Amino acid sequence: MIPFHEPYINGSETNYLTDAVRRQSFSGAGHYTQACESFLTNFTKSSGEVLLTSSCTHALEMSALLLDLQPGDEIIMPSFTFVSSANAFVLRGAKIVFVDIRPDTMNIDEQLIEGAITARTKAILVMHYGGVACEMDTIMSIATKHQLKVIEDAAQCMDAWYKGKHLGTIGDFGTISFHASKNIHCGEGGALLVNNQAFYERAEILREKGTNRKAFLRGDIDKYSWVDIGSSYLMSDLSAAFLLSQLETVTLVTQKRKALWNYYYKKLGAHKSTEGFHLPAPSEKDLHHNAHIFYIHTNDLDQRIRLIKKLKEKNIQAYFHYIPLHSSAYGKKHSRFHGEDKFTTSKSNSLLRLPLFYSLSKIQIDTIVEAIYTSLASNTANTTFLKKV
Ligand SMILES: Cc1ncc(COP(=O)(O)O)c(C=O)c1O
Repeated sequence: MIPFHEPYINGSETNYLTDAVRRQSFSGAGHYTQACESFLTNFTKSSGEVLLTSSCTHALEMSALLLDLQPGDEIIMPSFTFVSSANAFVLRGAKIVFVDIRPDTMNIDEQLIEGAITARTKAILVMHYGGVACEMDTIMSIATKHQLKVIEDAAQCMDAWYKGKHLGTIGDFGTISFHASKNIHCGEGGALLVNNQAFYERAEILREKGTNRKAFLRGDIDKYSWVDIGSSYLMSDLSAAFLLSQLETVTLVTQKRKALWNYYYKKLGAHKSTEGFHLPAPSEKDLHHNAHIFYIHTNDLDQRIRLIKKLKEKNIQAYFHYIPLHSSAYGKKHSRFHGEDKFTTSKSNSLLRLPLFYSLSKIQIDTIVEAIYTSLASNTANTTFLKKV
């Protein structure tokens, strides 16, 4: 069986875990949390504040709380994204306004954002799919012009860049995931990058159950108390110990994943004569992605279903990705789609993710590529046969 994913392990995680136990550093904001936050600040070249959180979902929820949203306020985002991108804002009573995506990157189409802005719009949420950057220059200038805040859902973006800037450091907030499915992980975990100084102090308080405990731990005040709303958004220091070990190998992880990504691209691109799928179109900016996902586009949904089945028969796991949020039962109640759904549904129907993880070998990629060709060839033969009949 070639699995779709195997969580990355470098073997040294237990050293820091053992040390955390020796230090009795278990709960949040401890030694390893601070070490991870310093690492992330340096690595991402962040000029803001980096706060480890219990998940990327919680980092998104914190950004929604920081925006002080009122029921009926609107957030513009793509529908091709993970449910947490929307839910964090729906929890605050906000209305989600979806716009279409670009077919080349599956990211929000920046040209459609301005047309979706109303008097109730408070923010734009972008999601950098597979660590490939959205068009941030355009998006930031629209936000400045209309005085909107920008949240970058950078869940998949550890070590992914846009014009020298780490994804998640460009908008007012950036949220990263360290879930086991990500390039670098600690099982469940995340980070909130607060890039707008106006929110630093309140972000610390919200993460600490609405108290000023962080200021107390820094020695700024002599006792801490209840000062605001908040919740328990801290990462355990045990998770942070595991995470630090992983973060220290991030460059190596990206290099290896990119080598595998490029190998897929070369092998699949070499068979131009085979009809039935398209590769993502890499552009100059895509070169700074982190190889989080390798996907192809089949011709349509039916072909994708058949291909997944054929690959499964050959012991290869391949998956589709997000079901567009506006088409879900809950999404229909809490959102509206502005403009035409030209690409969101059709492109999410044809997208097929192939196995990509640190310990995947080139030999396994050869097997996967071969299986795709033989499956598509037999599909074509079947279709031709059916048409003749
Ligand atoms: C785009 C996106 N946003 C948010 C999340 C949520 O991350 P977490 O599992 O850390 O809460 C994910 C998780 O896969 C994601 O892909």
